[in-house]
Amino acid sequence: MAKLYVNSKIKKGHINPELQGHFSEHLGRCIYEGLYVGENSDIPNVNGMRTDVVEALKELKIPVLRWPGGCFADEYHWKDGIGPKETRKKMINTHWGGVVEDNSFGTHEFMELCRQLGCKSYINGNVGSGTVQEMSEWVEYLTFNGVSPMADMRKENGHEEPWTVDYFGVGNENWGCGGNMRPEYYGDLYRRYQTYVRNYDNEHPIYKIACGANVDDYHWTEKVLETCFDHGTGYMNGLSLHYYTVPTGVWSKKGSATDFDEEGWYATLKGTLYMKTLIERHGAIMDKYDPDKKIGMIIDEWGIWTDVEPGTNPGFLYQQNTMRDALVAGINLNLFNKNCDRVKMANIAQMVNVLQSVILTEGEKMVKTPTYHVFNMYKYHQDNELVESYIETKEIGTEKSKVPNLTESVSMGADGKLHITITNLSLDEVADIEGVFAETEIKSVKGTILTGAMNAHNTFDAPENVVTSAFDDAVANGDKLNFTVPACSVVYLEVTV
Ligand code: AHR
Repeated sequence: MAKLYVNSKIKKGHINPELQGHFSEHLGRCIYEGLYVGENSDIPNVNGMRTDVVEALKELKIPVLRWPGGCFADEYHWKDGIGPKETRKKMINTHWGGVVEDNSFGTHEFMELCRQLGCKSYINGNVGSGTVQEMSEWVEYLTFNGVSPMADMRKENGHEEPWTVDYFGVGNENWGCGGNMRPEYYGDLYRRYQTYVRNYDNEHPIYKIACGANVDDYHWTEKVLETCFDHGTGYMNGLSLHYYTVPTGVWSKKGSATDFDEEGWYATLKGTLYMKTLIERHGAIMDKYDPDKKIGMIIDEWGIWTDVEPGTNPGFLYQQNTMRDALVAGINLNLFNKNCDRVKMANIAQMVNVLQSVILTEGEKMVKTPTYHVFNMYKYHQDNELVESYIETKEIGTEKSKVPNLTESVSMGADGKLHITITNLSLDEVADIEGVFAETEIKSVKGTILTGAMNAHNTFDAPENVVTSAFDDAVANGDKLNFTVPACSVVYLEVTV
């Protein structure tokens, strides 16, 4: 019997809703087909946005959406995507699949999508191939409320009022696809470019995000902070981090999304747990410069990256999504909660039809993936206070890939209820758990579970193969809560105290 200790009197930090953020790039069928079909499509839409997808996403309470990339961001010139659609430039998306980008989804369409989703906007600017003027004018176009060339252009294009831009990324992966820079050079460019990311709306200052490290490139974190930080937090509100879980650990042969064995299961979960080390080590460097934790760690690309589905365009990064993805999501979201004192936003890559998506589409059909269902369970943590908790674990796995059998996080909502999420990483062993709630009388409990075979997934023919169901097994007795978590599952409990 594993003990789960919960002390709801000890609050450990605020869980920003943005820890459950998303990412959408002009890549494959994420934007076009997945989110946006255009006003003239036979697929039901509102102003071009697919109604089925938007409705499904709204249920998740999407807090924030990042756009337009990714690598695409540092090649994107925003003026190509405004004005009458017939006159917008057509070009080849050289990064992703070599398909024609007709720019029919641009700034206005993105802000409209955020409006429909009711989420915050995170726009990623172009440092790699764009000018300071271009970035500065984009911010002016988006947010300036007055007479100016860019504000006038926005009005001519049909949007009288400025929008609110919540987050702005100054470049993406500038150590790689965003310009192959060295950190000192990027740090200097960051200082320059961000100067012109003006705050025209003092009530909603833009949260500026500097490009952070690739995985364990601690040198990048150190040098970017050394270059930018000593001039105060006015320069930088957040520093990003990108880390993908590659099942085999080998980029040239990542492994199938659906066809894997026990080793493929545990190796992947072990790979995902590396996120904890990355948060701690990059966090330690950030602590050196910023002990008060004013700068957020922004994990704006994470998720599992497998080989593409056989027969699909390799440049589209389309992959299926199984119970393994569900565990990857559950483990990461628990980690983000546990580190919410430093991690202020995280964006799974990517929202629809690319990498670890919550939704897949095919023509007019749509399926919710196991990852979708995990986000739907974890949404109850949004805006809560993390409370102190600890779970006893044991080591499981294969000879090569050892992992703890359980992960968890616990938060308290404004209504005083406790929200618990637990992942059982074992493929074959249930976990009997006794929750011990310090000086707290439990009044009632209800829950939800997502479970299935390790490679179970939803298809367009069987869209409900993996879905959540009620979890009624928890029994409360005073300050104790007993329950059994099945193998290969993610469980959510709402505890009224
Ligand atoms: O999410 C796919 C790609 O992964 C993004 O464009 C890039 O930022 C990262 O390398």
